[in-house]
Amino acid sequence: MEQRLPLIAGNWKMHKTPAEAGRAAGELAGLVRGAAGVEVMVAPAFVAIPAVAAALSGTGIALGAQNMHWEDHGAFTGECSAPMLVDAGCAYVILGHSERRQLFGETDETVRKKVASALAHGLKPVLCVGETDGERDAGRTMEVLDTQVARGLDGISVTPESGLVVAYEPVWAIGTGRTATPDLAQEAHARIREKLGKVLGKPLANSTRILYGGSVKPGNIAELMEMPDLDGALVGGASLEPASFAGIVRFRRT
Ligand code: PGA
Repeated sequence: MEQRLPLIAGNWKMHKTPAEAGRAAGELAGLVRGAAGVEVMVAPAFVAIPAVAAALSGTGIALGAQNMHWEDHGAFTGECSAPMLVDAGCAYVILGHSERRQLFGETDETVRKKVASALAHGLKPVLCVGETDGERDAGRTMEVLDTQVARGLDGISVTPESGLVVAYEPVWAIGTGRTATPDLAQEAHARIREKLGKVLGKPLANSTRILYGGSVKPGNIAELMEMPDLDGALVGGASLEPASFAGIVRFRRT
């Protein structure tokens, strides 16, 4: 099996001022220093990116953004582009988070354009997919995952160097305390990898990291990480406190 370096990513959403974010990033760096065999990333709000970049400099912790526009520049009031994020020190960008899809009208097509732009500028996209409660109850989970993966990557050339990451985030598990069971997460991750295999080819599908997101905490990360197709986590609420996020980064029991 391919070796995939686990990635533990914190999505700070619309929390923390620049000063608070810089302090939290500095504290986190101290707490995870020396953690081996895991990559760590934090995604603060746009305005906090410079403060977090400064705090993370030289720590090995990667910086990410939570969204971006697909154009490089132009009359798009309120937006930020891939070249801006790269210049600010970002290595990753979260794209198609369910909050963006549900609250801000993002579609598979806008997500696809963003993935293409991120890759063109050397930013690693974290492409988020996941079903709602209603879709799961209607037995449509696998169909939804297939569609979001296929449409999010349609016509885009991905290489091993692209660093594409996919995050499985069941909408019913985000911020609700209802974590998916390891078996249920594994079933979805396996399906996503199978679909990635059809879209990107098997070797690339096998080297692509698939993160789980949805109420991940220090107490449930270890059992999730035991699943063969689960390569890390995208963490919201539990990433806000450096100590709790560090507990997730140090998920290995031994
Ligand atoms: P949560 O959020 O960990 O607070 O459930 C996860 C996410 O939205 O990425």
